[in-house]
Amino acid sequence: MTATIAMAGKGGTGKTTIAGLLIRFLLRQGIKPVLAVDADANANLNEVLGVEVHSTVGEAREAIKGEIPGGMTRDLFMEMKLEQALIEAEGYDLIVMGRPEGAGCYCHANTLLAVYMDRLCGNYRVIVMDNEAGMEHISRLVPRRADCLLIVSDPTLRGIQAARRIRDLAAELDLKVSRDYVIINRVRNGLPAAVTEAVDAAGLNLAGVVPEDAILSEYDSEGRPTVELPQDADSVRALEKIFDKILIHDLALKAADGGR
Ligand SMILES: Nc1ncnc2c1ncn2[C@@H]1O[C@H](COP(=O)(O)OP(=O)(O)OP(=O)(O)O)[C@@H](O)[C@H]1O
Ligand SMILES: [Mg+2]
Repeated sequence: MTATIAMAGKGGTGKTTIAGLLIRFLLRQGIKPVLAVDADANANLNEVLGVEVHSTVGEAREAIKGEIPGGMTRDLFMEMKLEQALIEAEGYDLIVMGRPEGAGCYCHANTLLAVYMDRLCGNYRVIVMDNEAGMEHISRLVPRRADCLLIVSDPTLRGIQAARRIRDLAAELDLKVSRDYVIINRVRNGLPAAVTEAVDAAGLNLAGVVPEDAILSEYDSEGRPTVELPQDADSVRALEKIFDKILIHDLALKAADGGR
């Protein structure tokens, strides 16, 4: 069974950073193969992971609207383009969704894409999906289910309100979310009592808090991939505890025999 973990949260809260460190955690634990899906039109999960992207699913979808190379069917061409968009990295693969569809729905391409994504997802033990900020975007979640929705918030009352709305929207949209958690990121000097109360009042399931970590900003400004952070960085330590609780304990994920 493939476990799907989807990130959500308002802008700039740390979704991509946490998605990257989650992938690193899974690989360290031997829980693989992992498929990383960057579903943010402004894709940057690859930078956090330190891999280069040459083509995207969006480009594959656009390509088959134009000329098809001689001797190829449209379906085969799309399949080839989608395969090119799959990046093989160390211990995991990354696929970048790219721009959402522009004007003029091309339903056949979308059907092919859905079939391909379904088949692709089945090859992995865990799928980690990084998503765009805001709420309407979670309505585009492919697949439309998540074993675990990780909502990232800043330590403010507004942040908690946004997290609550995202959780409620996921239910309204009838996304099949088995478990949802909130991770409060960039915390300085402990959580304000009002925030803890707001989390309780909203009935949010708090997975844990992650401290503001200067080394993260350092790596950022030097353009170094976040996944190369030292294991004893405060943010990494806090996240490993959180992942241990929600993935190993709650979701009961275990290392696959023999790896890939
Ligand atoms: N715990 C932390 N301590 C310090 N800096 C952090 C922390 N978590 C994230 N950041 C920084 O905050 C910035 C935003 O993080 P990130 O890109 O992960 O957020 P996001 O939610 O994915 O943003 P977007 O909504 O734009 O996709 C980055 O520069 C990242 O390095
Ligand atoms: Mg992001």
